[in-house]
Amino acid sequence: MRLLAISITALYDYCSHTCGYCDYYLLSVCELGSQKLGAMENNVPKIDLSARRSSVSTKIVKACEKYGFFMVANHDVPLNVVGELEQQGLQFFARPMAEKLRAGPGTPYGYGCNRIGPSGDMGALEYLTLSTNPASPDYIARRARTISNRPSKFSSAASEYAEAVRGLACMLLDLTAEGLRVLNDTSVFSNLIMDDNSDSILRLNYYPPSNDHSIGFGEHTDPQIFTILRSNEVDGLQISTQGNWITVPSDPNAFCVFVGDTLKAMTNGRFVSVRHRAVTNSQQTRMSIAFFGAPSLQALIAPLPEMVPAGMAPLYKPFTWEEFKRQMYSGSLRLGDDRLNHFRA
Ligand code: OGA
Ligand code: NI
Repeated sequence: MRLLAISITALYDYCSHTCGYCDYYLLSVCELGSQKLGAMENNVPKIDLSARRSSVSTKIVKACEKYGFFMVANHDVPLNVVGELEQQGLQFFARPMAEKLRAGPGTPYGYGCNRIGPSGDMGALEYLTLSTNPASPDYIARRARTISNRPSKFSSAASEYAEAVRGLACMLLDLTAEGLRVLNDTSVFSNLIMDDNSDSILRLNYYPPSNDHSIGFGEHTDPQIFTILRSNEVDGLQISTQGNWITVPSDPNAFCVFVGDTLKAMTNGRFVSVRHRAVTNSQQTRMSIAFFGAPSLQALIAPLPEMVPAGMAPLYKPFTWEEFKRQMYSGSLRLGDDRLNHFRA
C-alpha cells in the first residue's frame, strides 16, 4: 500500500511539471475498487420536450427530487450549433501540448490538464473553460486568440453554443418553477442565469483513451444552478443514486441536466444535487461540453419561502454566489466534499 501511495504521488508530480498524460491505472484501482456499479441504465429519466407542458414540468420536478438529474430529447438547440463547437473543440485538443498550454493555466479559465480545482484533485482529462458573462461579450473573442488559428471561428462557435444552451437552461428552469408551483414568479430561477452579470461558464472536457474506467473527472456535485451537458457517442458519465453508480448512456442528440448545489439550496433541499463522475474508455476519446448556469456574484441565494414547509425553519442560510465561490476556491474543500454543509442553518 505504501508503494502504491508513493507511486501516485510521483505521478502527480510528473503531471504538475510536464502536464503530460498520466497513467491512471493506479488511481483507478484505488478509487473505483470499493464502489458498486449499478445496472440500471434504463432508469435514467429521459424527458421528451415535445410533450404537453404540464406533463413535462411534472416529470422534471420528479426527476430533480429523485435523482437531481435527467436527460432531455427533442430540444431546440440547432444541431449545427452543437456540431460547430464539437469540431472546434476537437481541433483544439488535437493541437501540440505546447500550443495548448498557451491557452492555460485553467485556474479558473482557459486550458487545464489533469488538475481539477485548487485542492490537489486529479483526473485523466484535459479541459478548456470559458466565462460566458453576457456583460463581457468580447471575452471569448479575446480568449480565442490563444485557442485557435482561426479565432473568430472558435469564438462564434462557442458564443452561439453558450447562448443556445443558456436558452434551453432557462426554458427548463421556467418549467421547473411551474412544476414546483412557484406561480407568482416562474422566472425566479431563469432570471438568475439571464442576469447581465451571470457567472455562467462553458467547459469542454476531453478524455483521451486511458485504462478502462479510470477516473476522468472524480465524484462531485456541480455548484451552480443547472448544468446542461452533452457528449459524443462514448459512454463515461455516471451518476450516483442510492449508493449505486449508474452509467448514463451517451446520446449525442440529447442533453443531460444536473441539479447544482445552488438550486438544491433554493428548493430547501427538496431537489438533490446529483453526485456524478466521468470515467474513461480504453479505446475511444470522449469529449463533453458543459454549460454551467450560474447567478451573478452579488445574487443572494436562499431557500424560496414556498419551499419551506409552514412552521419549519429554512435548511440553509442565505449566501451570495460570491461567498459560495470563495469557499469553493479557498482550498479547504476537496472536489467530492459537500459544499453546502457550510451554509446549513
Ligand atoms: C463536469 C462534469 C462530466 C463529463 O464538468 O462538471 O461533471 O461527463 N463532467 O464530462
Ligand atoms: Ni460536474
